Amino acid sequence: MITTLPKVELHLHIEGTLEPELIMQLAERNGIRLPYADLDDLRRQYEFTDLQSFLNLYYANLDVLVTEQDFSDLTRAYLKRAQAAGVRHAEIFMDPQAHTSRGIALATCVNGVSQALADSVTEFGISTSLIVTFLRDRPAAEALEVLTELISLDAPIIGIGLDSAEVGHPPIDFVEVFALARAHGLECVAHAGEEGPPEYVWQALDLLKVSRIDHGIRSLEDDALVDYLVQNEIPLTVCPFSNVRLRVVDRLEDHPLPAMLARGLLVTINSDDPAYFGSYLDDNFRGLQQTFGLDAPAMAALSRNAVQAAFLADAERAPLLAEIEAWLAEQL
Ligand code: ADE
Ligand code: ZN
Repeated sequence: MITTLPKVELHLHIEGTLEPELIMQLAERNGIRLPYADLDDLRRQYEFTDLQSFLNLYYANLDVLVTEQDFSDLTRAYLKRAQAAGVRHAEIFMDPQAHTSRGIALATCVNGVSQALADSVTEFGISTSLIVTFLRDRPAAEALEVLTELISLDAPIIGIGLDSAEVGHPPIDFVEVFALARAHGLECVAHAGEEGPPEYVWQALDLLKVSRIDHGIRSLEDDALVDYLVQNEIPLTVCPFSNVRLRVVDRLEDHPLPAMLARGLLVTINSDDPAYFGSYLDDNFRGLQQTFGLDAPAMAALSRNAVQAAFLADAERAPLLAEIEAWLAEQL
């Protein structure tokens, strides 16, 4: 049973969990006029040709998120669905600049999301942490300002990441931001090698000194990079259905996941923006099982990889690993 496999989600944008129904409800609650005739009209917008076409809709829909309550309702709705998917630990991305740039206070989005996360263990049996992601298609100086404010607010974040439109926005532009984060003991991750070249993965590793790569599937184009990632056990947070829906690959059958596993990469499976791609974490695992015939030990191995890749203490990993072994014993 895929839903009962204990799972760890390491690449999940909380804004990407905003379901069409919640968009309509929040628009009504906040008196916001949407550019869609109705729910069906909104749903018809979810056909993407590339990353940018998706980002256009993703950013536009954020207008309905205004109050702390909106952000905590969004987060609770994700946690409820994640619980049903078998998620036991989630490291959640939030894009502060997607909100501050439209006049929402930094404290509003941070407090709203973190209030919901504070109750995630008791309400949903999911341990959580928050990673703020900076928008690489906005100026690095703005990211530096936001990070400085987050640090002065003592925001409950464990790390930073880098996302949004990749091509033309290399990691090298964000060296100062990541240096400041590291100086404050924050974990560092970055989207790289989703649409961008292997060179961006190298930059994220060498210049930003990230400990995980988000996506990274184009790493396969560079043998030396693959060797480096394998030797250093750098985790890749791969998002199979995202890659299909954003046309990074044509069909799930064409996804390089089997090749990545064969090369010995530390691959984890993630949902990225499940409300936009129609697939939460269980759906991603199920799709891989059906398409590539992954058996129970292979699925357990993917879950174990995510436990290893998580920003957790060994004492926190142990019970998750034990749950995965118990699940596997039941399947055999
Ligand atoms: N922001 C939300 N989802 C993203 C993705 N898949 N790539 C880059 N930025 C994102
Ligand atoms: Zn992402």
